[in-house]
Amino acid sequence: MAVIKIRKTGEIIKGEENVLRFLEKQGVLYEHWDINKLPDRLKEKFVLTDGEKEEILATFKEEIENLAARRGYKAWDVVALSDATPNLDELLKKFEQVHIHTEDEVRAIIAGHGIFIIKGDEQTGYFDVELEAGDVISVPEGNPHFFTLMEDRQVVAVRLFIDPSGWVAHPYEEKEEVIK
Ligand SMILES: [Fe+2]
Repeated sequence: MAVIKIRKTGEIIKGEENVLRFLEKQGVLYEHWDINKLPDRLKEKFVLTDGEKEEILATFKEEIENLAARRGYKAWDVVALSDATPNLDELLKKFEQVHIHTEDEVRAIIAGHGIFIIKGDEQTGYFDVELEAGDVISVPEGNPHFFTLMEDRQVVAVRLFIDPSGWVAHPYEEKEEVIK
């Protein structure tokens, strides 16, 4: 279950209903997949062969197709990050820059954790969404955000795209004090 932290006030939002209500108000899609469908040997595996990535996509075929049909996604893949990823620190530096995309950024967490830091409405400011396995999020098109890992420094996620080229990150100028 995702946990929200509002950076400006330090407020923490927990519990499915509260998280859902908050994210809905901010225009952020939040859903759940039953992670128990995943075979045990893939549950905490962060270095994946192409075959294992295909197996993850096959396991969640129904969920992926359902989401794609509702929101117009046309392509999907699996991404895995961990200390075994070459240049993880460099990649994280890139992910941690505030940016926007010309389409939604959709991620379904399959293993490990990730945090999206998203710019909310004026009153709310930036907030963290800490995600765990089973959490599905979509950052709206054009909404400033960035991503990082949690202390475990590992994540496996399904990504969905309308057009993979739409996922190019465009830098977004933001004052440091607004993000902190
Ligand atoms: Fe992004």
